[in-house]
Amino acid sequence: MTTRLKAPKVKLPAEYEAEAKQKRSGMDRRRFLNYSGWVGVLGSLAVGLLGFMRFLFPRVLFEPPNEFKAGSPADYAVGAVDTRWVISQRVWIIREEQGFYALLAICTHLGCTPKWLGSEDKFKCPCHGSGFRRSGVNFEGPAPRPLERLKIVLAEDGQLLIDKGKIFRQEKGEWTRPEAYLSL
Ligand code: FES
Repeated sequence: MTTRLKAPKVKLPAEYEAEAKQKRSGMDRRRFLNYSGWVGVLGSLAVGLLGFMRFLFPRVLFEPPNEFKAGSPADYAVGAVDTRWVISQRVWIIREEQGFYALLAICTHLGCTPKWLGSEDKFKCPCHGSGFRRSGVNFEGPAPRPLERLKIVLAEDGQLLIDKGKIFRQEKGEWTRPEAYLSL
Protein backbone atom coordinates (compact mmCIF):
# COMPACT_ATOMS: atom_id res chain seq x y z
CA MET A 1 0.00 0.00 0.00
CA THR A 2 1.34 3.37 -0.98
CA THR A 3 0.74 6.46 0.97
CA ARG A 4 0.64 9.79 -0.70
CA LEU A 5 2.53 12.54 0.80
CA LYS A 6 0.64 15.73 0.96
CA ALA A 7 2.53 18.83 0.02
CA PRO A 8 2.57 21.05 3.00
CA LYS A 9 0.57 24.20 2.61
CA VAL A 10 2.85 27.12 2.59
CA LYS A 11 1.44 30.26 3.92
CA LEU A 12 2.80 33.18 1.90
CA PRO A 13 3.21 36.54 3.38
CA ALA A 14 0.21 38.79 2.77
CA GLU A 15 1.89 41.00 0.11
CA TYR A 16 2.96 37.92 -1.96
CA GLU A 17 -0.49 36.44 -1.62
CA ALA A 18 -2.08 39.65 -3.02
CA GLU A 19 0.41 39.73 -5.90
CA ALA A 20 -0.25 36.08 -6.79
CA LYS A 21 -3.98 36.71 -6.73
CA GLN A 22 -3.59 39.71 -9.04
CA LYS A 23 -1.49 37.65 -11.46
CA ARG A 24 -4.10 34.88 -11.51
CA SER A 25 -6.95 37.29 -12.30
CA GLY A 26 -4.80 38.94 -15.01
CA MET A 27 -4.26 35.56 -16.64
CA ASP A 28 -7.98 34.77 -16.50
CA ARG A 29 -8.80 38.07 -18.17
CA ARG A 30 -6.20 37.45 -20.92
CA ARG A 31 -7.51 33.94 -21.52
CA PHE A 32 -11.08 35.28 -21.76
CA LEU A 33 -10.03 37.97 -24.25
CA ASN A 34 -8.14 35.37 -26.24
CA TYR A 35 -11.21 33.12 -26.44
CA SER A 36 -13.57 35.96 -27.39
CA GLY A 37 -11.11 36.99 -30.11
CA TRP A 38 -11.22 33.50 -31.59
CA VAL A 39 -15.00 33.34 -31.32
CA GLY A 40 -15.18 36.64 -33.23
CA VAL A 41 -12.83 35.43 -35.96
CA LEU A 42 -14.66 32.11 -36.38
CA GLY A 43 -18.03 33.92 -36.40
CA SER A 44 -16.88 36.24 -39.19
CA LEU A 45 -15.54 33.28 -41.16
CA ALA A 46 -18.89 31.47 -40.81
CA VAL A 47 -20.83 34.55 -41.98
CA GLY A 48 -18.46 34.96 -44.93
CA LEU A 49 -18.85 31.29 -45.83
CA LEU A 50 -22.65 31.55 -45.71
CA GLY A 51 -22.51 34.60 -47.98
CA PHE A 52 -20.32 32.67 -50.41
CA MET A 53 -22.75 29.72 -50.41
CA ARG A 54 -25.65 32.11 -51.19
CA PHE A 55 -23.59 33.40 -54.10
CA LEU A 56 -23.04 29.84 -55.36
CA PHE A 57 -26.69 28.87 -54.94
CA PRO A 58 -28.75 32.01 -55.61
CA ARG A 59 -32.49 31.96 -55.00
CA VAL A 60 -33.99 31.00 -58.32
CA LEU A 61 -37.61 30.31 -59.10
CA PHE A 62 -37.84 27.23 -61.20
CA GLU A 63 -40.89 27.60 -63.37
CA PRO A 64 -42.27 24.85 -65.52
CA PRO A 65 -41.23 25.19 -69.16
CA ASN A 66 -43.58 27.10 -71.44
CA GLU A 67 -43.33 24.68 -74.32
CA PHE A 68 -44.68 21.18 -74.48
CA LYS A 69 -45.10 18.56 -77.17
CA ALA A 70 -48.62 17.36 -77.64
CA GLY A 71 -48.16 14.26 -79.78
CA SER A 72 -48.80 13.61 -83.43
CA PRO A 73 -51.54 15.47 -85.35
CA ALA A 74 -52.93 12.05 -86.23
CA ASP A 75 -53.79 11.55 -82.53
CA TYR A 76 -56.52 14.21 -82.79
CA ALA A 77 -59.97 13.63 -84.22
CA VAL A 78 -61.22 16.19 -86.73
CA GLY A 79 -63.91 18.41 -85.21
CA ALA A 80 -62.98 17.59 -81.60
CA VAL A 81 -62.04 19.82 -78.71
CA ASP A 82 -59.29 17.81 -77.07
CA THR A 83 -59.20 18.10 -73.28
CA ARG A 84 -56.27 15.78 -72.49
CA TRP A 85 -53.91 18.68 -71.67
CA VAL A 86 -56.26 20.70 -69.46
CA ILE A 87 -55.15 19.28 -66.12
CA SER A 88 -51.41 19.22 -66.76
CA GLN A 89 -51.06 22.29 -69.02
CA ARG A 90 -54.38 24.20 -68.91
CA VAL A 91 -54.63 23.98 -72.69
CA TRP A 92 -57.30 22.75 -75.11
CA ILE A 93 -56.29 21.70 -78.61
CA ILE A 94 -58.95 22.09 -81.26
CA ARG A 95 -58.68 20.10 -84.47
CA GLU A 96 -60.50 21.41 -87.50
CA GLU A 97 -60.60 20.18 -91.07
CA GLN A 98 -57.96 22.75 -92.10
CA GLY A 99 -55.72 22.67 -89.03
CA PHE A 100 -55.25 23.25 -85.30
CA TYR A 101 -55.39 25.99 -82.72
CA ALA A 102 -54.68 25.89 -78.98
CA LEU A 103 -56.69 27.74 -76.36
CA LEU A 104 -55.46 28.65 -72.90
CA ALA A 105 -57.92 27.23 -70.35
CA ILE A 106 -57.92 30.35 -68.17
CA CYS A 107 -61.09 32.38 -67.91
CA THR A 108 -60.51 36.00 -68.89
CA HIS A 109 -62.75 37.17 -66.04
CA LEU A 110 -60.84 36.11 -62.93
CA GLY A 111 -58.76 33.17 -64.04
CA CYS A 112 -60.81 30.06 -63.20
CA THR A 113 -60.59 27.02 -65.46
CA PRO A 114 -63.67 26.73 -67.68
CA LYS A 115 -65.07 23.34 -68.64
CA TRP A 116 -65.72 22.08 -72.15
CA LEU A 117 -69.41 21.16 -72.50
CA GLY A 118 -69.48 19.09 -75.65
CA SER A 119 -73.28 18.74 -75.69
CA GLU A 120 -73.66 22.54 -75.71
CA ASP A 121 -70.62 23.14 -77.87
CA LYS A 122 -69.16 25.74 -75.51
CA PHE A 123 -66.73 26.35 -72.69
CA LYS A 124 -68.42 27.26 -69.42
CA CYS A 125 -66.69 28.85 -66.46
CA PRO A 126 -67.86 27.36 -63.14
CA CYS A 127 -66.98 30.48 -61.12
CA HIS A 128 -69.30 33.21 -62.43
CA GLY A 129 -70.87 31.60 -65.47
CA SER A 130 -68.96 33.07 -68.39
CA GLY A 131 -69.43 31.18 -71.62
CA PHE A 132 -67.08 30.93 -74.60
CA ARG A 133 -67.70 29.49 -78.03
CA ARG A 134 -65.40 26.76 -79.31
CA SER A 135 -63.44 29.46 -81.13
CA GLY A 136 -62.72 30.99 -77.70
CA VAL A 137 -64.94 34.05 -78.20
CA ASN A 138 -66.90 35.07 -75.09
CA PHE A 139 -70.66 35.39 -75.43
CA GLU A 140 -72.16 35.25 -71.93
CA GLY A 141 -71.29 36.14 -68.34
CA PRO A 142 -68.81 38.69 -67.03
CA ALA A 143 -65.72 37.65 -69.04
CA PRO A 144 -64.60 40.85 -70.80
CA ARG A 145 -62.78 39.25 -73.72
CA PRO A 146 -62.16 35.99 -75.56
CA LEU A 147 -59.90 33.22 -74.33
CA GLU A 148 -56.30 33.48 -75.44
CA ARG A 149 -54.83 31.36 -78.18
CA LEU A 150 -51.30 29.96 -77.96
CA LYS A 151 -48.52 29.45 -80.41
CA ILE A 152 -48.90 26.09 -82.11
CA VAL A 153 -46.42 24.72 -84.64
CA LEU A 154 -45.01 21.41 -85.79
CA ALA A 155 -41.80 20.35 -84.07
CA GLU A 156 -38.93 18.83 -86.06
CA ASP A 157 -40.06 15.35 -85.07
CA GLY A 158 -43.54 15.99 -86.47
CA GLN A 159 -45.29 16.44 -83.12
CA LEU A 160 -47.48 19.39 -82.22
CA LEU A 161 -45.51 21.93 -80.23
CA ILE A 162 -47.39 24.37 -78.01
CA ASP A 163 -45.73 27.45 -76.54
CA LYS A 164 -47.64 28.96 -73.62
CA GLY A 165 -45.20 31.84 -73.50
CA LYS A 166 -46.57 33.19 -76.78
CA ILE A 167 -50.22 34.23 -76.63
CA PHE A 168 -52.50 35.70 -79.29
CA ARG A 169 -55.47 37.90 -78.36
CA GLN A 170 -58.49 38.13 -80.63
CA GLU A 171 -59.35 41.71 -79.59
CA LYS A 172 -55.91 42.80 -80.82
CA GLY A 173 -56.40 41.06 -84.15
CA GLU A 174 -53.70 38.52 -83.34
CA TRP A 175 -55.59 35.33 -84.13
CA THR A 176 -54.76 35.74 -87.79
CA ARG A 177 -51.03 35.56 -87.14
CA PRO A 178 -49.31 32.49 -88.64
CA GLU A 179 -48.36 30.80 -85.37
CA ALA A 180 -51.84 31.25 -83.87
CA TYR A 181 -53.15 28.60 -86.24
CA LEU A 182 -51.42 25.53 -87.60
CA SER A 183 -52.63 24.88 -91.12
CA LEU A 184 -52.22 21.38 -92.53
S1 FES B 1 -63.61 33.58 -63.36
FE1 FES B 1 -64.72 32.82 -65.01
S2 FES B 1 -66.54 33.87 -64.94
FE2 FES B 1 -65.44 34.67 -63.31
